[in-house]
Amino acid sequence: MINIFDIIIVKIIFLLISTFITMEVLKNNQPFDLLPDEMLIHTLILVDAKTLLDCRLVCKRWQELIDAFVFQEKVALENKFVNNGQGYSSFSQIGSNDIRKIELPWYVFYVISKYDPFNRNLIKNHCGQDHWLHWESINAAGVMAPFLSDLDLDYDFSQVSRIPQSEQLLLSDPDFDGQSSFFNVDFRHLRSIYQEIIFKDYGLNVTLMKTLQPKIVFSSWSKTRYQYILYRLQATLYSETNSSKVVTADSLNEESPTEWKRASDSIETMGHETSLRLNHSVIEVLEQPALYNFQVTCSVVKILLPIKYKNAYLL
Ligand SMILES: *[C@@H]1O[C@H](CO)[C@@H](O)[C@H](O)[C@H]1NC(C)=O
Ligand SMILES: *[C@@H]1O[C@H](CO)[C@@H](O)[C@H](O)[C@H]1NC(C)=O
Ligand SMILES: *[C@@H]1O[C@H](CO)[C@@H](O)[C@H](O)[C@H]1NC(C)=O
Repeated sequence: MINIFDIIIVKIIFLLISTFITMEVLKNNQPFDLLPDEMLIHTLILVDAKTLLDCRLVCKRWQELIDAFVFQEKVALENKFVNNGQGYSSFSQIGSNDIRKIELPWYVFYVISKYDPFNRNLIKNHCGQDHWLHWESINAAGVMAPFLSDLDLDYDFSQVSRIPQSEQLLLSDPDFDGQSSFFNVDFRHLRSIYQEIIFKDYGLNVTLMKTLQPKIVFSSWSKTRYQYILYRLQATLYSETNSSKVVTADSLNEESPTEWKRASDSIETMGHETSLRLNHSVIEVLEQPALYNFQVTCSVVKILLPIKYKNAYLL
């Protein structure tokens, strides 16, 4: 009969022996020295991005392989997005040999595998699916006020509603991402709603911004309740070193202002920018504020990854 203590003792002995073997092996680095580059690369791809930073410090060979191949291959495997010069497509559609032709420093691939910041919508709660979460507002008194809860809005007609299924054109925009709600903003009480994107939250620190100087695209769908109201979509870049740069996409829709319309524009960055604010507001056109009311949904901000290939012939 097997005694429970025998099992425990056997387990402890096994643990000691295996720990000892592992330590000896790591000390001499032998099994990895025996592995060919390809196998080492394919093993390291399975390691998470943050740990790979530590792995870079193990030895020169590891660092060279990680910098030249591992981060790139990892990004390729994990299906992140890349511009192949003909629009944006998935890394997974690019053969792994071609991925090696992409001229970007290793830390860009590290940031892609850790934060996935490029070519996707960085606006949170972009259609109001989580009510006012992540959005802030400027009220009629000109005061910045975060939304505390929907209850705060009881006194006015600002609310989140559903887009009717009949709005096919609107809902077929892939940026809706399966959502179908919109913000209905009562201008008597709220002058603007806005959201800020801090670049370093997505791994885009000064080094990354300076290296890439990425272009940023932004858009939204809007409609106004009455004629003669001008909806304004505004993106403002902020930097620590100098004043902000404002790009607005005014969505003046004179023919049918009360139908959904998409406003969009883009901004070039210069490398010193640290954040972006996307602001929805109304420009007064008629002195009848009681009638001002705008509806907005599908706010989008995408930072585009600029890519150069070492050989230009990639399809
Ligand atoms: C920015 O991030 C990259 C990748 O994480 C890193 O290699 C670089 O040292 C960082 N630069 C600064 C100034 O923090
Ligand atoms: C902002 O500062 C950068 C240097 O940090 C400079 O190259 C650029 O021209 C400045 N931009 C403006 C609009 O002043
Ligand atoms: C948004 O734009 C409106 C005017 O278009 C402006 O009054 C308001 O201050 C802006 N909000 C922010 C947070 O910049």
